[in-house]
Amino acid sequence: MRSSSCFVAAALFACVLASSAQSAPKPAPTVAATPPMGWNSWNFFAEKVTEQDIKNAADQMVATGMRDAGYVYINIDDTWEGERDAQGVLHPNAKFPDMKGLADYVHARGLKLGIYSGPGAKTCGGYTASLGHEEQDAKMYAAWGVDYLKYDLCSFREDVMYPKALHDKPEQARLMIAAYDKMGKALESSGRPIVYSLCQYGWDSVWEWGASVGGNLWRTTGDVEANWPSIYNIISEQAGLAKYSGPGHWNDPDMLEVGNGRLTLEENHAHFSMWAMLAAPLLAGNDLPKMKPEIKAILTNKDVIALDQDSLGQQARRVYTDGEVEVWTRPLAGGAEALAVLNAGPERVATHPFHLPLAALDLHAGPAKDLWTGKTIVLQENMPVELKRHDILLLRIPAAQ
Ligand code: GLA
Repeated sequence: MRSSSCFVAAALFACVLASSAQSAPKPAPTVAATPPMGWNSWNFFAEKVTEQDIKNAADQMVATGMRDAGYVYINIDDTWEGERDAQGVLHPNAKFPDMKGLADYVHARGLKLGIYSGPGAKTCGGYTASLGHEEQDAKMYAAWGVDYLKYDLCSFREDVMYPKALHDKPEQARLMIAAYDKMGKALESSGRPIVYSLCQYGWDSVWEWGASVGGNLWRTTGDVEANWPSIYNIISEQAGLAKYSGPGHWNDPDMLEVGNGRLTLEENHAHFSMWAMLAAPLLAGNDLPKMKPEIKAILTNKDVIALDQDSLGQQARRVYTDGEVEVWTRPLAGGAEALAVLNAGPERVATHPFHLPLAALDLHAGPAKDLWTGKTIVLQENMPVELKRHDILLLRIPAAQ
């Protein structure tokens, strides 16, 4: 049945795409059956990234045990692009002298390579993007051995949406969706399984149409920053999006800032925990060669990673709030459940802890595993929970006997 939003003219094109995707039988996804895990160059290196940084990241992925913990993709973000030649072939710039060689280097370490482009003439960094060369670029990525593409809207707005439809928002959206569909089809016919990551900051409710253009993940927000207000704002924006996410097609609240900026240890825990609760792609964005032990411990926590990668693929829902404390729950394969109690405000300790209303949240009393301490906590109705500022309690509750 069509949802009522299908009758809103502005959403018509997206709706037609979305409803055709709904009615088709869902084959098992060939890529991104669980949220993609890896590392991306942008959050730490930004425009300075070089081939050597990518090689170092690949080496560190292996040396730190991150690869064995599940991190597979080594993703080059913006600023690798050079110029097109007379045949339209895009060459990497001097920072990336041998893309095929780099892909081989990454693959030889049991990892996969990701790359970045966009539907406009230019990327966000002002480098050459794919407008008018979509099939050619997709074929080239496949020939290099690329396994993942992040496709960033950027100049498509100025190049196509505004010149063609300045005052016509529905037409702008239609043009944008068609551009993402075009690259989706180009990747599909490239002959190589390539994860397709849509990056257009959540515009026009991308979660409603991202899967129908071949997207395996789509950004739901603007750019993450390595500070608590940014991270908490993004967490808040994910409430209500659970139903759009699942195996092969994930909501992407942007890459990880764990280990970057001035995030406290509690904030790093809360950030990583919530991304796992949200079944978010886990793309580390820190300087791996200089990673501190406590940051490595967060990024390689097997229980938290297993939560993120749970095969049911159900994103958490926010089920309760009390002041600045929020409770999120997530059903897991086999009838287990994950519970996160997030304190977005000042500490809740001593005389005024948070009280967990188990029955009201349909949770059962009994033992649960604290995924950060590894200890067993026995859940009881209205039990007090003490939390530091911006800290989180993250539990796995086994299926009821
Ligand atoms: C946009 C994206 C970022 C990053 C930069 C690169 O801002 O949202 O994640 O890729 O472009 O220029």
